[in-house]
Amino acid sequence: MKILVINGPNLNMLGIREPGIYGNSSYDDLCRMIRRKAEELQVEVSIFQSNSEGDIVTRIQQALGQEDAIVINPAAYTHTSIAILDALKAAALPAAEVHISDVTKRESFRSISYAGMACGRHYIGMGFDGYLKAMEDLVKDISSR
Ligand code: DQA
Repeated sequence: MKILVINGPNLNMLGIREPGIYGNSSYDDLCRMIRRKAEELQVEVSIFQSNSEGDIVTRIQQALGQEDAIVINPAAYTHTSIAILDALKAAALPAAEVHISDVTKRESFRSISYAGMACGRHYIGMGFDGYLKAMEDLVKDISSR
């Protein structure tokens, strides 16, 4: 089983950006946690981060026939990108939306999630653990099919 983890813009700045909201751990720390979880679950993982909407759309398209599930934190594109929503719908793979912070308790413009409309599972405000729980649940979902 192969899982694709996608992170959107500014998530490469974790540990530096707004630590009061996103914590002190770095993007490399997050990648290490994801890789450790993949080993534990005995699945392959591919981790992709981009600050560009088009590159994220392209990577989602490439998942078709390559990966079995997608964990995605589209970051700010969550609230703006119909292109990412459409790409997730086109790939039609089991998908989980992750947000480190609780977007429901922040500015009102963060309350809409386009990408989330194509995701069967949602992990909001759980910090980095949201990614790990998303991986666990997607593996369970796929294994029980
Ligand atoms: C985020 C929340 C988004 O609103 C924000 O633009 C991000 C990160 C989160 O993980 O909490 O960049 O997706």
